[in-house]
Amino acid sequence: MSFGLGRGQPLDPGAVGLTLADLPPLPDAIGTDPLAGRLDPRAWFPHPERPLELEIGSGKGTFLLAEAARLPETNFLGIEWEHEFFAYAADRIRRAGLTNVRMLHADATEFLRWRCPDAILRVIHLYFSDPWPKSRHHRRRVVQDRFLADAARVLAPGGELRIVTDHDDYWAWMEDHFARWTAPDAEPVVGPAGGGNTDSGGSAPFTREAFDPPASAREGELVGTNFERKYRREGRPFHAATLRRR
Ligand SMILES: C[S@@+](CC[C@H](N)C(=O)[O-])C[C@H]1O[C@@H](n2cnc3c(N)ncnc32)[C@H](O)[C@@H]1O
Repeated sequence: MSFGLGRGQPLDPGAVGLTLADLPPLPDAIGTDPLAGRLDPRAWFPHPERPLELEIGSGKGTFLLAEAARLPETNFLGIEWEHEFFAYAADRIRRAGLTNVRMLHADATEFLRWRCPDAILRVIHLYFSDPWPKSRHHRRRVVQDRFLADAARVLAPGGELRIVTDHDDYWAWMEDHFARWTAPDAEPVVGPAGGGNTDSGGSAPFTREAFDPPASAREGELVGTNFERKYRREGRPFHAATLRRR
């Protein structure tokens, strides 16, 4: 599919862009050992010791460009599964000379589940995630109990899952999921092997907090992505939340 990105110029992800071909293949052993495919994305950065933030579905990369320039001592990984957007965002980041950003062409939910080690992320950003409005497509939404189990596992204590959407029905779906993952007396919703909310004794995996705009957002913006700017011009209302890992 072509989105007309790049205006006829070849896009060059350069060292910013990684694809699944750059990763070791997922071993067959993950059938019996879910940890067998884990790798450490911090090693992809010139300063692996710095804090790492993840953006899921970076689109054209506008948020990553602005936020990574503002926080040069933080590493940012953007995961985008649409190849043209992945290449476009990586090309922009390469041309901007930002060395603290990497773009991965992959399904972010699969990356979290099979590849990402425990407690390595400071923030997961999820902005204007595709709403998949038809009921039969709801299972394609990023926010699922399975995803929240993985987010709880990969976020460091105190880490944040930051979410903004314009879509009322997807927001109601998210609210139902958030309630299960923030209720102190919640029953486990993903089994122990999934790293779900299996804590007992009044310790839900997340607390719910208000969403504070990042410093890279412009006046009056929640976060400053392409979709926010487009939908704001259309006058759409937005929903936003932060879930903080206990
Ligand atoms: C509606 S766009 C929003 C883009 C950007 N966040 C913004 O606000 O402008 C959603 C993006 O997420 C990407 N995406 C959706 N699900 C994904 C997944 N599981 N892994 C990686 N990218 C995903 C889509 O390809 C698309 O570029």
